[in-house]
Amino acid sequence: MTDELAPEIEALRKVPFFEDLTPEDLERIATIGRRMTFRPGEPIVARDDVGGGLYVLLSGSATVEAGGKAHRLGPGQFFGEMALLGHRPRSATVTAEEPVEVLTVEAMYFRPFLIKNPSVAVTILEGVVERLREVQERIEHDQAGRGPS
Ligand code: CMP
Repeated sequence: MTDELAPEIEALRKVPFFEDLTPEDLERIATIGRRMTFRPGEPIVARDDVGGGLYVLLSGSATVEAGGKAHRLGPGQFFGEMALLGHRPRSATVTAEEPVEVLTVEAMYFRPFLIKNPSVAVTILEGVVERLREVQERIEHDQAGRGPS
């Protein structure tokens, strides 16, 4: 490991998203991942944009409006997986709410990284299921409120 990467790896080790990674894989993610910062109000990804990577929030918070509701994303949470896994344009705009620092993994590295790190793939699956359930419950709740047709 190079001395330059050591503080970067220590920071990534504290992000729950990466907690099961081996030291070698942490080093790899520190090498392939790019840190970026965004100011409050700045879009990080924009709905309908094509291309781009996976984002992991290292600090700050962001909001995403999806399915008629605003969702808040905080440190350790990820976004951008839908366009990558579905080969589709971005499904929503994600906007920085506070000053935000992200680690972004470019599309070309994403699948090989998941295949090498099943624990990260499972974390992403869990997040996707959680989001799906939230939308499902909201639809059911709205339908119940409307009563029988
Ligand atoms: P993607 O479509 O690539 O870009 C916008 C991102 O917003 C999307 O991936 C998800 O990561 C995120 N997103 C979409 N819907 C929701 C939701 N209901 N809750 C939280 N995040 C979401």
